[in-house]
Amino acid sequence: MEQLRAQPFSGYLVHRPDRINEKLARVGRGTPCGEYLRRFWHPFMKTEELGDLPKLTRLLGEELVAFRDRSGRHGLVHKHCPHRHVSLEFGILTDRGIRCSYHGWEFDVDGTVTSAPAEANDANIRASVCLGAYPVVEYRGLLFAYLGPPGERPPFPIYDTFEIEGGEVIAYQVDVPCNWLQVAENSMDPMHVVFLHTRVNVVQFNERLGLLPLIEFRERPIGLFYTKSRRLNDEFVWISANDLILPNFTQAGSVYNSTDGNAPKYFGRNSFSRWVVPIDDTHTTVFAFRHFNHRSEESRPELRSPEALERIDIGELRDRPYEERQRNPGDYEVFVGQGAITPHSSERLATSDRGVVLFRRRLEQEIDRLQAGELPLHASSVFCEHAIPTYGSDTVLRLPVSAGSDEAARRALLRRVGDVYISADSYHGDERYAFLERELRELNNIS
Ligand code: FES
Ligand SMILES: [Fe+2]
Repeated sequence: MEQLRAQPFSGYLVHRPDRINEKLARVGRGTPCGEYLRRFWHPFMKTEELGDLPKLTRLLGEELVAFRDRSGRHGLVHKHCPHRHVSLEFGILTDRGIRCSYHGWEFDVDGTVTSAPAEANDANIRASVCLGAYPVVEYRGLLFAYLGPPGERPPFPIYDTFEIEGGEVIAYQVDVPCNWLQVAENSMDPMHVVFLHTRVNVVQFNERLGLLPLIEFRERPIGLFYTKSRRLNDEFVWISANDLILPNFTQAGSVYNSTDGNAPKYFGRNSFSRWVVPIDDTHTTVFAFRHFNHRSEESRPELRSPEALERIDIGELRDRPYEERQRNPGDYEVFVGQGAITPHSSERLATSDRGVVLFRRRLEQEIDRLQAGELPLHASSVFCEHAIPTYGSDTVLRLPVSAGSDEAARRALLRRVGDVYISADSYHGDERYAFLERELRELNNIS
């Protein structure tokens, strides 16, 4: 590509072709990324959204109808009845599925025809016709579906922070009108926290986030994670970790980081977990759990309100006057401001985009592997006996400022902390937390 020299008033000259990354942006059936994403479970609706009527919805570009039948079972089916295409959003819920309102064909939650009452003999129809249906799992206030080939369905993934003893999760969602990747890769962009959320605007979470962190990106078979080190004072450094489990599950450390900075902390847990779910190529819904448990420092009751839940994910609230959004933009404004599908061809990526580059590259590799006939590696298959270990966390360690080599010392500590997190994967539950605390304490002592 022609390399322009930076020059003033070059509006006429600066025209780089805008091309969408077709491989990653498209999510429909038969597209590279759409096929890859279809190999995983995705949340698609809050359970409370389903009442005594079917509900029209969309997921991965497909028009679908969700329902809870009168026996309490959940279904997610193609929108149109296979008979003559009436929308099943107008279907009638029955004890064993949903009945199309036009000629009364009844479908079970798995899509099989249980009766076609307008036919004198419906045996042939029951044997040869099926409504497209997907398996659904209800888990802690969210409904999840698997839209891929039936024979490749992975185990349902349960992550460790969902199962912390005595803990609670609150499900919430945020709808964003743009491509899923813009939203997902934001969590691999730690520098935006320094600027968007702290230095450029009002302080949206905590002024400590305005400190430029040292960052180390790491890969693991099921995804990517990074640790960031910020010096809190002459004695202590704060190391927070963000996790991304492929393809679209993310965690950060605490949001408001209310730690006092004068005492060590060993692997305080994240305050939220989220899935960035493509609704279609230009619409995304973030489904998430806010965590309230004894390992998270952010279990304060005021963080339970709908406004507080949404604020965590989007940096600022969406429904604000335009002028206010301009004066104090948050994640929502930057996602939507990048356009419906931001073109990768004309971006000017810089060194601070390393996480974004790694994430895109990893997605492309996984897609290539699938196209070559290999099944994706599922976290739920790797850790099938136990909850999947996640890394979203905050650790504070004592590391007195050392003259001249402080950055090198902080980098070395960052690496060792990341090593500890990885080696803890072979432990589970409380044993894992005990191992992490023991190992991190040791780093603290030798610092
Ligand atoms: S269109 Fe559904 S039963 Fe006829
Ligand atoms: Fe953000």
